[in-house]
Amino acid sequence: MKGRAPGASTIAIHGDVAARAPGSSVAPPVFQSSTFVSPFGPVDEVLYTRYGNNPNQLRLAERLARLEGAEAAIFVASGMGATALAHLAVLRPGDHLLSSEWIYGGTRKLFTEDFAQLGIDVTFVNPDKRRDWRSRFRRNTRAIFVETPTNPVMRVLDLDWLSVLTQERGVPLIVDSTFASPINFRPLEHGADVVIHSVTKYLNGHSDIIAGAVAGTEAVIEEVRNRMKVWGQALDPHAAWLIERGMKTLVVRMARHNATGLAVAQWLEAHPKVRRVAYPGLASHPDHELAKATLDGFGGMVGVELAGGPRAAERCLKALRLITHAPSLGGVESLVSEPRFTSHAAMTAEQRSAAGIPDGFLRLSLGLEDPEDLIADLERGLAAA
Ligand SMILES: Cc1ncc(COP(=O)(O)O)c(C=O)c1O
Repeated sequence: MKGRAPGASTIAIHGDVAARAPGSSVAPPVFQSSTFVSPFGPVDEVLYTRYGNNPNQLRLAERLARLEGAEAAIFVASGMGATALAHLAVLRPGDHLLSSEWIYGGTRKLFTEDFAQLGIDVTFVNPDKRRDWRSRFRRNTRAIFVETPTNPVMRVLDLDWLSVLTQERGVPLIVDSTFASPINFRPLEHGADVVIHSVTKYLNGHSDIIAGAVAGTEAVIEEVRNRMKVWGQALDPHAAWLIERGMKTLVVRMARHNATGLAVAQWLEAHPKVRRVAYPGLASHPDHELAKATLDGFGGMVGVELAGGPRAAERCLKALRLITHAPSLGGVESLVSEPRFTSHAAMTAEQRSAAGIPDGFLRLSLGLEDPEDLIADLERGLAAA
């Protein structure tokens, strides 16, 4: 695996934004204030929480920028807010966006329905068909968007390859890196220009906040900030404070998610009631070599296709006691969901099957519980399947 300079994330996460005065609190205060006292006369900047310049919002942004190796970052009220604003920062009516077709359902809806209304045309590309990225690129194509690793089959995309095209054409490569977190993968190191996170997932890590973030150049983040000020997706200061607390354990959480993900994926792959396991840490995964070369960890998301199909999946879900049946991912507790009823409900069974998500496919988000207890729970579930 790629490995990372020791201490890089320590400074990003624990490094102080300002020198600590004696007597100041060790934990940062929450600035639960919508507005701040202004000096008299003209001012360069008005402090107002909707503008994203509340100290809790700024502390977080600085930490994520350092984690991603970006010039700047900004946190907003949801992952979808981050996706919308990152694109609106670089696209205008009449522009064209090339997007991977392996993306989150909400993002697909944003592109096909809302962007169409704004006069932004989107073409979807199967990332496996490399030639299509070039042949579908138009004169008015202004950005390329991808997600990696992808939901729920954990395909890992080759950004070093794709960024040759975006750099040659002078358009930004926008990457939703939610599934990796900046601990496992940093897209900017592979030629990407803009990184998006659903902070709801690993960055916060406790399934108690909805938030999103964008990282990139100062110029792009300034555009995002300007859109956010008028479209109104600022993050609440208390949520920002909780996210900063969550991020303090990001490195240790990811280490545990990575270890448990691999252990559970290996165990599942050897189980007779399992037809296929989708996990980039397994030699059977189509992107295993690329994942080994580019990721610092394979993550805690595991896709599993049961040999007995949808009925078996239902029986398995009902028998689980520790792993909770709920959408979302990246929290301290393990969750399981069926993509056919959640993220991929809009597709037909045939389309899902072609995408490697046949009915009977379960998506696991492995949390921080003892891996042996998780395996015992899965054993119970599979016994009933
Ligand atoms: C990869 C990915 N991106 C974006 C989102 C949207 O994030 P949020 O729910 O925080 O708006 C999700 C939500 O599941 C997601 O899985």
